[in-house]
Amino acid sequence: MWLPCGCTSKYVASSFARRTLASYLHVSGRSRCNVAAFMPEAAGLEGVSGRAALRELSVSNSESFWAAVARHRLCWSTPFHTVQDCDLSRGKIKWFEGGKLNVSVNCLDRHVHTCPERVALIWERDERGWCCTDELLEMTCRLGNLLRRHGVKRGDCVTIYMPTCPLAVASMLACARIGAAHNVVFAGFSADALAERIRDAQSSTVITVNQGVRGGKVTELKKTVDTAMQSCPTVKQVFVAMRTDNPVTMTARDIAMEEVREQKEMLKEDVVCEPAVMNSEDVLFLLYTSGSTGKPKGLVHTQAGYLLYAALTHRYVFSYHDGDVFGCVADIGWITGHSYVVYGPLANGATTVLFESTPIYPDPGRYWDMVERLKINQFYGAPTAIRLLLKYGDQWVNKYDRSTLKTLGSVGEPINTEAWEWYHRVVGDGRCPVVDTWWQTETGGICIAPRPSDPDAEIVPGMAMRPFFGINPVLMDTEVIVFGFLQGEVLTSNNTSGALCMAQPWPGMARTIHNNHQRFIDTYFQPYPGYFFTGDGAYRSEEGYYQITGRLDDVINVSGHRIGTAEIEDVVNQCPAVAESAVVGYTHSIKGQGVYAFVVLKKGIDVQEADLSRQLNGMVSEKIAKYASPDFIQFAKRLPKTRSGKIMRRVLRKVVESDLEGLGDLSTLDDPAAVQEIIQGHEKLL
Ligand code: WT7
Repeated sequence: MWLPCGCTSKYVASSFARRTLASYLHVSGRSRCNVAAFMPEAAGLEGVSGRAALRELSVSNSESFWAAVARHRLCWSTPFHTVQDCDLSRGKIKWFEGGKLNVSVNCLDRHVHTCPERVALIWERDERGWCCTDELLEMTCRLGNLLRRHGVKRGDCVTIYMPTCPLAVASMLACARIGAAHNVVFAGFSADALAERIRDAQSSTVITVNQGVRGGKVTELKKTVDTAMQSCPTVKQVFVAMRTDNPVTMTARDIAMEEVREQKEMLKEDVVCEPAVMNSEDVLFLLYTSGSTGKPKGLVHTQAGYLLYAALTHRYVFSYHDGDVFGCVADIGWITGHSYVVYGPLANGATTVLFESTPIYPDPGRYWDMVERLKINQFYGAPTAIRLLLKYGDQWVNKYDRSTLKTLGSVGEPINTEAWEWYHRVVGDGRCPVVDTWWQTETGGICIAPRPSDPDAEIVPGMAMRPFFGINPVLMDTEVIVFGFLQGEVLTSNNTSGALCMAQPWPGMARTIHNNHQRFIDTYFQPYPGYFFTGDGAYRSEEGYYQITGRLDDVINVSGHRIGTAEIEDVVNQCPAVAESAVVGYTHSIKGQGVYAFVVLKKGIDVQEADLSRQLNGMVSEKIAKYASPDFIQFAKRLPKTRSGKIMRRVLRKVVESDLEGLGDLSTLDDPAAVQEIIQGHEKLL
């Protein structure tokens, strides 16, 4: 039974949760030295002493580990009867079946009752200065009621196209409260990209704001939605909140949602909203991400396993302690925002920071000014921003008091040693551990990171290092290709590189690709049957630590944003003057990778290359997003191809890195002269 929010009786019996855990684990009453102190739910696990042993047990006896943690960390309305039912070879992943819960109750109500004085969200708006909000439960309930009144039902999918702001978080949680799935689309995506995601998700409701504000610039989000609507006939209603004072044109489909001023739709709603009782494996959200081929895929995450994994990794990777202020500067439009701005911190009852701005607005001291003002304890950001700030110099950091910082995190792309060391030495004053966290949209939460481990365990710069509890990484041979697919054996030795796979399921992993389970199997489980294939390569050191070496497929990472080269080529090829194109990534000193496009024009086309470049850049920004727009466009007469007609991307990648020594075997090339032309064209462009 759910008690309504605002009710003063004790709603979440954390003591009850503890009791069930204790009985499950047959706690004997003897305390379990440091492990018990570190992870209370581990108390009683036989023979466990030390975090390494706990990790070992989380893999060798993963069912009892996850069952214990799930009972302890989540609040259930009905306990689960089956811990897991997984078969990786078929892409079948189910956790905690039989269990019922509500994610918003786990993120809000239970903490409102146990620590009502604690602030849930701090909104660091684009304008310097900040605004504090602690009425997230009320806002979520009103929104949940509003959505319900407008016909949004359990199982529906609501698209959220908003900047990082409290109402966006409340929208996500409101969906969770009433059992609808959300589909957050990054507010930097174009109308076409938004429309494609709305159509694929079969969303009939959209939530947006009139305008966004980032880095002092206004973006016309509502107008972008209007454009997207022209190709989304199934959308019945668009809720529009006001982020700025500028009115926007409303249509019959639009519903003004603002709390203040004349439009009081949300204020009409009750502050009590009965939470839907959800099954563990009901869908919590879809999140679109790029693959190496075809359209972006809508990865599906479900309720209990995802929430548990986000919460547990948040607590242990960052050494989060109750009362800490957690500052993850990711946008809510990415998985990092989902797991470490919203769900992980809120499930742990943390105060979480919503960062709406950019690292250099209004000046390069923005992050550290915020750390000082908000007294942030854990700071989590992307290497691209660290590299950018490093160039501005130490004075922007040293101006501010960063003594509250305890852990620094890095995510999204490899962090080079120079950036790592600057982050550690300057930002963290050499006293905060830097955790380089490797994970993906698909994994739901952090899988490899230096912590948890013993507090004084070594951290090697630029290495993600150690698998999290329950994560069992393996490296696979990438040399063997059968029927055009990578296939290979598990590499057991250390000091070796291979394809990074996971040998065991974990609760946070994605369950399917929306409407395309076959693609899910083909992409992740077919390359190495019985294993989850990440798409990344990794190196395992002599000591057994992991270092991510980068994608093995045609996915590139621009400022931590993942994009398939095929998606960009698709847009470029739509230009009537273009015969074909090939896009590759190249090393970029700030962005990590930049976009380099080779373009072959149709015969007889006579255009100014500079004009066409501008046109192609515009097309990519318009069809995908600005960050995907090529940094370089090289026009070529032809592309290097194999005799069977496949573009040799490997060769193009070497050319753009100016690694002519590394061109490798060119014997399968159809016409070796094509490579020389490409090299000359590249040199001219630089
Ligand atoms: C891809 C996943 C993880 C959430 C944000 C990105 C790359 C991610 C690291 C890291 C090296 C990393 C991988 C991965 N990546 N973290 N610490 N070191 N590479 O999520 O958009 O799903 O992208 O980002 O290539 O496969 P995503």
